[in-house]
Amino acid sequence: MTAIFFRANLFHAPGHSAGQTTDIERIDDAMIAVEDGMITAVMPPDDPARRDIDKAAVTDLRGKGALLPGFVDLHIHAPQFPQLGNALDVPLDVWLRTHTFPLESRYSDLEFADRVYRALVHRLLANGTTTAVYFATIHQPASLRLAEICLGAGQRALVGRVAMDLAETCPSYYRDASAEASIDDTADFLHAVSAMPGNNGQVMPVITPRFIPTCSDAALRGLGDLAAATGAHVQTHCSEDDWEHAHVQRRCGMSDTAALQDFGLLTDKTILAHSTFIDDDDMAMIAAAGSGVAHCPLSNVFFSNAVFPLRRALEKGLHVGLGTDISGGPAASLMDTARMTVIASRMLEEGVDASLRAGARGVPSSRVDFRTAFWLATMGGAQALDLPVGCFAPGRQFDAMLVRLPADHLLDIANGDNDSGDGKRDGTSDSMARDADMGPGDDLLQKIIMLATPDHILQTWVAGTSVHRRG
Ligand code: GUN
Ligand code: FE
Repeated sequence: MTAIFFRANLFHAPGHSAGQTTDIERIDDAMIAVEDGMITAVMPPDDPARRDIDKAAVTDLRGKGALLPGFVDLHIHAPQFPQLGNALDVPLDVWLRTHTFPLESRYSDLEFADRVYRALVHRLLANGTTTAVYFATIHQPASLRLAEICLGAGQRALVGRVAMDLAETCPSYYRDASAEASIDDTADFLHAVSAMPGNNGQVMPVITPRFIPTCSDAALRGLGDLAAATGAHVQTHCSEDDWEHAHVQRRCGMSDTAALQDFGLLTDKTILAHSTFIDDDDMAMIAAAGSGVAHCPLSNVFFSNAVFPLRRALEKGLHVGLGTDISGGPAASLMDTARMTVIASRMLEEGVDASLRAGARGVPSSRVDFRTAFWLATMGGAQALDLPVGCFAPGRQFDAMLVRLPADHLLDIANGDNDSGDGKRDGTSDSMARDADMGPGDDLLQKIIMLATPDHILQTWVAGTSVHRRG
């Protein structure tokens, strides 16, 4: 396999230290070598090896925007895409009964599933999500169709057929026939995804008990055994809101985290969505297991009754990434989720009740900045999934997006620069440094995280292959 090259001005966040700081690395005029989807070298402008590169093999992205690693979205309900932006005014348990289960039951219709899932995968790629972790529904054919669509569209994906069998909490029109059905259909799904023609591991199956309240003990235990036997990824919801947290405590006599551990579902390949109400003991269990948490700050506003203690979790060494939680979170963009991560952390730190005195309103030392939010959206997700993506380094997959500079005309005015931003650059090695649009240090990255909309994302690559191009 011969190498291809991407020449670009890039930002990435390769490292993060215990909840405190994240260093952003900016490389002006980087040359990235990619072989068979994998990065083999990241060369700075003065690297002598660049002299030998065949110009015909180089895609030059300088002057068009900034290259960022692709986003890793750890928590998406694919069937809820039609409901995005709706049904945000009732609590979680009511929302499931009155809106979400009726919608999800429609995916017995494969044609409907096909239409929605194609639109969603296309939308997420356009929004820079190169790795997506999906809940589908209980329907085997539709869940497999989602996996096939991801494979065909070139998205790196983890897909779960949802298991839910408990008659007390699941409606008769939308539940597995029995615990055995939950377990057997999940086992069949794991096999079918792994055996899908052309699937070299780009799409992975996930064991997906919806959450403890909808699953019998027998199903949860059987799925835990399946996780041990197969080593497959696991995903579920954990301590999302007051209702769920109390429900599990009452039924199992222990926290959600402890119960999942008991069922064998807390593995180093588990993703726990939300986890808003986990305490220090839960955090210690999650850290020891090496499980990941999908922080869903936008969804949490509507369904969680509280803000997830992100900084505390990071300080305790938990693997945390971000999730849109479509459609609990009303945005299909991890850029919005990253922005909300910063905002939620500031509100947690400062507090929200103005009638309290300053200092008594919030939880001190809770804030994270845009750098940590960006790390979470890229490397944090990669670490939680244990996948070689998330930054530009040898051995990682070239999953990336090109982001046009938001509000660049405002920067031009601020810098007294008359360049109309038409993309014409002189092509010398320091074009980013002298490009008034780029600004100093990591200012531009902050602007991107705070201002960029999906329209700013010009192109997306997975494993070195272009999977979306705007216009
Ligand atoms: N808990 C169980 N199912 C769901 C779901 O679909 N969305 C969210 N946000 N929480 C859940
Ligand atoms: Fe969810």
